Amino acid sequence: MITKFSYGKPVETDAVVQDIPVSGHEQIRHFSRKKGPVQYFTCMLGEDDIVYGLGETMRGVNKRGARYISFNYDDPHHKDDMPSMYGAHNFLVVDGEKPFGAFFDTPSKIVFDIDSKSTGVLSVACETQDLYLYIIEGESAYGIVKQFLGIIGRSFLPPLWAFGYGQSRWGYKTERDVRRVAAKHEEAGIPLDYICMDIDYMDRYIDFTVNKRRFPDLAGFTARLKEKGLRLVPIVDAGIKIEPGNPVYDEGVKNGYFCQNHEGTNFKAEVWPGMTHFPDFFQEKVRRWFGDQYRFYTGQGLTGFWNDMNEPAIFSTEYRTKDTKPDVERGDVDQPERHIADFKDFFHRLDDGREKSNYEVHNLYGALMTRASGEGLDRLLDQRYLLFSRSSYIGAHRYGGIWTGDNASTWEMLRQNVYHMPSLNMCGFLYSGADTGGFGGNCTRELLLRWLAVSVFTPLMRNHTAIFTKNQECYRFRQVEDFQTVVSLRYRLLPYLYSEFMKAALRQDMLIRPLAFDYPGDGKARRIQDQLMVGESVMIAPVLEQGVKGRVVYLPEPMTEVRWSREGFACMEVGAGERTVMAPLNQVVFYIRQGKLVPVGKQVLNTSELDLLDVELLGTGTEYEQYADDGFTKDCGLNRCVVRRKE
Ligand code: GLC
Repeated sequence: MITKFSYGKPVETDAVVQDIPVSGHEQIRHFSRKKGPVQYFTCMLGEDDIVYGLGETMRGVNKRGARYISFNYDDPHHKDDMPSMYGAHNFLVVDGEKPFGAFFDTPSKIVFDIDSKSTGVLSVACETQDLYLYIIEGESAYGIVKQFLGIIGRSFLPPLWAFGYGQSRWGYKTERDVRRVAAKHEEAGIPLDYICMDIDYMDRYIDFTVNKRRFPDLAGFTARLKEKGLRLVPIVDAGIKIEPGNPVYDEGVKNGYFCQNHEGTNFKAEVWPGMTHFPDFFQEKVRRWFGDQYRFYTGQGLTGFWNDMNEPAIFSTEYRTKDTKPDVERGDVDQPERHIADFKDFFHRLDDGREKSNYEVHNLYGALMTRASGEGLDRLLDQRYLLFSRSSYIGAHRYGGIWTGDNASTWEMLRQNVYHMPSLNMCGFLYSGADTGGFGGNCTRELLLRWLAVSVFTPLMRNHTAIFTKNQECYRFRQVEDFQTVVSLRYRLLPYLYSEFMKAALRQDMLIRPLAFDYPGDGKARRIQDQLMVGESVMIAPVLEQGVKGRVVYLPEPMTEVRWSREGFACMEVGAGERTVMAPLNQVVFYIRQGKLVPVGKQVLNTSELDLLDVELLGTGTEYEQYADDGFTKDCGLNRCVVRRKE
C-alpha cells in the first residue's frame, strides 16, 4: 500500500510516474513530523531493524549507524565516511517487525541520520518545507521495493552491446591511441565492445566538437571500428564553453537557455574548458535544444554516451576564485573543503513558472541533463542507445544508467562497488557499475583481476582510470591470459545476464539483490552484505581482500558451485551452510540456486558475434525463461522463450 503526502508547494521532480492521489490524512504512519526552518521526520528503529536503500551512498547495504547527506557532489576522494556522492536517491526501507518504505521526493538537501548515535533514532531533516512523501507498506522489504519500482517507471533499456566489456582511460588522446587499445585487446584475445573517449577527443574540451587533428575522420573511424564490432562512447560535460562563434554557445545565449546569476546575466563557472555557462535543464525547451545537439554525434554513427560534471562540478566562478576558503556562514559546513555557496549563485526557471536557486533544487540538475540527452537520443536514433551519467536523481533511471564516479584503486572501493549494486537497484538504477580497477591511484594485477570478477556481474562493465595513474588495461599486466579468462566469463554469461536484466527492467523488479531479499527467513543471510543475488538463478560471493586465496561463503540452500577457468565450467553440487572456497586469481566461482538454470553462450570476441539462443545449460533446473531479442530494437515487449534441459 502506498500513501502520498504533500507538504507546501513541492517541485515536480517526475520521479514518480504513477498517479497517486494525495492522502487527505494529516497523520503519517511510522514517522512523526516536526515543522521548523528544517522539517524533521523521525522514527524509532527496533533493535534488529535493518535500513536499506539510499542508492549511491557510502558504507554497507545496511545503512544503519551513519549520517548521509543527499546533496549531489563531486568529491573525487571517496572515503567510507563521505556523506554525499553524485546522486540523490532518497528512498529507504526499514526492515523490522512492520516493514515500511519512505521516499522523500524533493530536489533540496536532506540529511538522513540513520541511528548514527546508536539511540535507535532515524531522522530525516529536509531543508525545504515543500516535498512529497511516499510511505509504502508491505509484507517484506523486497515487496516494498517492488512496489516502489512499480511507481517510478521502467528502467532505461540499453542495447546488447552495452552489456559487453568497455575500456576507458582519461588520457586516450588520438585516433591512434584508440586504435592501439582495440588492437591490443584483439591481440590478447580479450573480448571488447566499446572504447570510451574522454575529454581529450574534443576541441579544447568543448562539447559537440571534435579535435580534427586528433580525430581527422571520426565518422570514418566509427564505421571502421563498427565493422569489427567495436563502438566509441564519447563523454559530454554539462557546461558550454563561453566562446562567441561557437554555434551552440551563440544559440544558447541568443535564446536565453543558460542559467542566470544574481545580476540577471548568464552565470559563469569554470570547468574543464575554462569559463562555461550551464544550460538550464529545468526548462523543457532547453532540454529539447540540448538533446538535439547530440545529432552532432549520432550523425557520425555514434550511439553511446557518458554525461559528466553534471552535479554540476565547479572549479571556480565569476564570484569565487579557486583559492577562496570555504564559506561556513553560507553553508559549507558539511563539505568543508568545497564550495557549496556556488550553488546559491545561479538560478533555474522551472516549467511551473517559479525561479529557484540551484541550491534549492540542486539534486535534479544532473538527472535533467540525462533526461535531455535521453529524450534527444530517442528522437535522433531508431535504435536503443547507451547512456550513463555521473549525477542522478530517482527518475533519471528511465533515460540512462549511472556510474559511481571517481573511486580509487583500493580494496575498500571494490567492496563499496559490491555494496552499491543492490542499493542502486532498489532505487531503479539497474544499469550501473563502478570504474573497474579504480579511477584514482594505481591498480595492481591482483586488484584488477578480483575487480573484473565482480564487474562480470554488473550491467555496466567498464575499466576506467584517471590521467597520471599507471596503465590499467588488461593487456598491460603479466599473464594476460588470466585477464582473458575472467573477461571471457562475462561473454559466456551474456545470454543469462542480458535476459535477467531485461526481465527485471520490463517487470520493474531488481536485478541485483541482497541475500536477505531472497531468503527472508534466514537470520544469517539477512546479515550478509558481501554476497549478492544476480537475477533469479545466481549468487555471487566475490573475493574482496588482498593477498588471500579464497573466502568463506555462506549458502542459504544447497547450490551448484560453478568454477570458471581456462578449461571451462566445472560444476559441483554443494550443501547448505558455510564453506571455505579457494578462488585463484584466474578463476571465478559463483553459485546456481537449486532447481534453477543458467544459459551460457559460446565464446565470442564481442557481442556482434553472439547468438543469445545458442546456449548450454548449467544448474539443476529443468526450465529457464530466457529473454532474447535482436539487441537494439526499441520497443521491447517481453520476447520470451523457454529453454528446456534435454531429457
Ligand atoms: C571526471 C570524471 C572522470 C573523467 C574526468 C575527465 O573526473 O568523473 O570519469 O575521466 O572527469 O573527464
